[in-house]
Amino acid sequence: MSTTTTLAPQPVSLAPLAPRADFPLLAAQPSLHYLDSAATSQKPQAVLDAITGFYSTANANPHRGAYELSAKATDAYHDSRITIARFLGAADTDTLVFTRGTTESMNLVANAWGRTHVQEGDEIVITALEHHANFVPWQQLALAKGAHLRIAELTSDQRIDLDHLESLLTSRTRIVAITQVSNAVGSITPVAEVVRMVRAKSPAIIVLDGAQGAPHLPVEFDALGIDFYAFSGHKLLGPMGIGGVIGTRARWLECEPWQFGGDMIEWVNDHDSTWNTLPHKFEAGTPNAADAVGLAAAVRYLQQLDMTAVREHEVALLEAAHARLSALEGLHMYGPPASQRSGVISFSLADVHPHDLATILDQHGVCIRAGHHCAQPLMRRLGTNSTARASFYVYSDGSDVDALVHALTEAQRMFAHTPA
Ligand code: ALA
Repeated sequence: MSTTTTLAPQPVSLAPLAPRADFPLLAAQPSLHYLDSAATSQKPQAVLDAITGFYSTANANPHRGAYELSAKATDAYHDSRITIARFLGAADTDTLVFTRGTTESMNLVANAWGRTHVQEGDEIVITALEHHANFVPWQQLALAKGAHLRIAELTSDQRIDLDHLESLLTSRTRIVAITQVSNAVGSITPVAEVVRMVRAKSPAIIVLDGAQGAPHLPVEFDALGIDFYAFSGHKLLGPMGIGGVIGTRARWLECEPWQFGGDMIEWVNDHDSTWNTLPHKFEAGTPNAADAVGLAAAVRYLQQLDMTAVREHEVALLEAAHARLSALEGLHMYGPPASQRSGVISFSLADVHPHDLATILDQHGVCIRAGHHCAQPLMRRLGTNSTARASFYVYSDGSDVDALVHALTEAQRMFAHTPA
């Protein structure tokens, strides 16, 4: 790279939607520009308090004791399920099964539904946009069952090519597993259109990967017309290690348990067993009650902010960042326009390796992710091994955009003066 661009200072004046003071890590490091919320979000004090509150006032094993403290723990876990299911628009709250996160949710559906309903010669449709968590479980299911994995390709701005997707749907398609929002480039899937297509052309179940959707968009599971919706808590202000999958009751009734052990049984005879009801049938072992309570606190925090406002805030940041970054010579941004993209900007800067870029940005207090973003099939289609990725959330503001642009300008200047 041989040229640098001098940018007129254009500070972005967007205020954060959520005060940084609510987030202890951000409050303690005022000069930190955390632009990696697509990897994991920061946590508000309310979430930390809820987790501590559970352990200091209600800690006992849910569902196991006849004493009052165990009942308190059971109630806290149960109430958290209701709060989170309603936030995601599921009226039948027992159809939310807690998992460790989206990855486990996808493996659960692939095993609990897929193993019994996918046969040799059947077809599973995914897309080239998928995170490995919504790619490999289906690839492995197809290999195990002798089914065919079909992959919908992308448009030149990394949206799902809906015509290609439609052409892959047949009477043998058993599963369509698709992301709601791409973690790597931010493309938002037009879910209603996909659902219409799938229902018209195949008997497939629809599994939506909401890992990057639930934190950034209003979600109404009951209105989506899908079969399963998977999500992670840690990307929506909640703790790591808790997430879930919502399914329609009809689909859950078609599922076999995937993991066996305590709490998921009704009767254990010497040589066979019967199963507990929803949701317990799919939650073997001691549940992660404290983190479910923490996730419910995160949901309440987001509800106060309002998910429509969250989306609007991110679009404003995206548009501001896009305008500033477009002026940087040698910078290429992937993905569709802001109206069809969540708060993610994936980019490359001339021939600077994204890992070098991330290291230089870190020296300016700017945290971004660099790499393949667990989306190697997408990277292959982009003709690269990795990109740099900045991602916004409710605590992001104009100063984060300014810092990103400033640090990239400095990186550009540095590489312009590095002999080839
Ligand atoms: N899936 C997370 C990301 O996109 C880890 O960064």
